[in-house]
Amino acid sequence: MSRISMRVDGVTYTDEVEPRTLLVHHLREQLGKVGTVVGCDTSNCGACTVHLDGEAVKSCTVLAVQADGSDVTTIEGLAPDGALHPMQKAFHELHGLQCGYCTPGMIMAAVDLVADNPDPSDDEVREGIEGNLCRCTGYQNIVRAVQQAAREMNTGAQA
Ligand code: FES
Ligand code: FES
Repeated sequence: MSRISMRVDGVTYTDEVEPRTLLVHHLREQLGKVGTVVGCDTSNCGACTVHLDGEAVKSCTVLAVQADGSDVTTIEGLAPDGALHPMQKAFHELHGLQCGYCTPGMIMAAVDLVADNPDPSDDEVREGIEGNLCRCTGYQNIVRAVQQAAREMNTGAQA
């Protein structure tokens, strides 16, 4: 077992983990962060996306021990105090989801995308979320939601 410590959604946790434990399993099973979901066994779907030191990563592709000392944000910590993050609000308002299974990872990927590109075009959104698969929506409303959130995040940043 290895002893690791990481800050997750603003709280520091220290735990013993097996060296083979994936970050997504550590988050869900040890820390109870079940908002981060597992959609595949192949690193393809992106449903498990979280932010690791500010960058979107598929948490099924990272070992928990690799995140030792890091700052992790999950969908549960994106908006403090029960308020919706502009990205969550836009997905809700523009119907960027149906079953919702891809949504936590999609939103985490989209927030990172907008941080890097505050005014993404249609194609840039599609390219930015290409690692996140959605079986339900056909993506059109997701693209619109990401662009609406980007506008709101820019306005908020300028205020
Ligand atoms: S569960 Fe991580 S990419 Fe599918
Ligand atoms: S909303 Fe169902 S997989 Fe995306």
